[in-house]
Amino acid sequence: MTATPQPTSDPALVVVFENVRIGFDEGEILRGVSFDVRERETLVLLGETGTGKTLTLKIAAGLMLATSGKVSVLGEEVTGKTENELLEFRRKIGFVFQEGALFDSMTVGDNVAFRLREDRVDEAEVDQRVQEVLQFVELEHTAEQFPPELSGGMRRRVAIARALIDRPAIVLYDSPTAGLDPVTSQTIIALILRLRDVYGVTAMLATHRLQDGFALANFRFNPETKRVERNGTDRTGAPEKNHGATTRFLVYRDGGVYFEGSPEEVANSQDAYLKRFLV
Ligand SMILES: Nc1ncnc2c1ncn2[C@@H]1O[C@H](COP(=O)(O)OP(=O)(O)O)[C@@H](O)[C@H]1O
Ligand SMILES: [Mg+2]
Repeated sequence: MTATPQPTSDPALVVVFENVRIGFDEGEILRGVSFDVRERETLVLLGETGTGKTLTLKIAAGLMLATSGKVSVLGEEVTGKTENELLEFRRKIGFVFQEGALFDSMTVGDNVAFRLREDRVDEAEVDQRVQEVLQFVELEHTAEQFPPELSGGMRRRVAIARALIDRPAIVLYDSPTAGLDPVTSQTIIALILRLRDVYGVTAMLATHRLQDGFALANFRFNPETKRVERNGTDRTGAPEKNHGATTRFLVYRDGGVYFEGSPEEVANSQDAYLKRFLV
């Protein structure tokens, strides 16, 4: 008899949730959720408010522990880690919190540097790395400003810069376009595309807008032209392959996975519940 390969031994599986449950006094929020995220994939997590999207990202990041089930991220089993091991583990993951969650009384530069200072990284290196990530989000001129002085879109970009400071292979975005107007939302999506297509970042993105997912599926960042371009289609009319970067949708409802599928499956679906997310 041959042994069944363990999912965590496949390096292409970046996130694996197996029958994950979490609940509080008010009741169970996730009632046995299973899914995986492969390398260079973006998993778009859709669901109405309160369905557990934020909890899912926090569990994946080791910021919160599931009540039961198994969670593996980057080949490591998150469930069962000690608090010290979790501190180490969280550095490997970029987390863009809902609303950005910046410290308003600290400069942009200090916000972005926060984790490095906690780790007592040498100040010269801190300066250099802060400049590097602020340049990536095109906000290098704001290092001395305070978050309340910036627009909502700029604050969101600072939050992304802060998530990138330890050069994570995986970034978890919690509702990155929530509360932003459509044009500003596009600049955030463009940044997410750039991270995926230039640095090969694997991602999970919680949202209540299907359009965010379609934008990730239908566009790419072209490093040669330095522009966001629409993906072409092959001879069968299917979207052309974008160097292995794929987008998949996962829809939560009533504590479980209601739907899981490709952008084409979502686009062609007549399901009334899915259509709620076309806002
Ligand atoms: N720390 C907590 N303590 C108690 N209940 C919580 C906690 N975190 C989340 N919840 C509950 O779980 C529900 C789902 O939360 P959340 O993941 O934030 O949903 P979503 O991001 O999909 O809107 C919330 O409505 C809340 O009632
Ligand atoms: Mg949320």
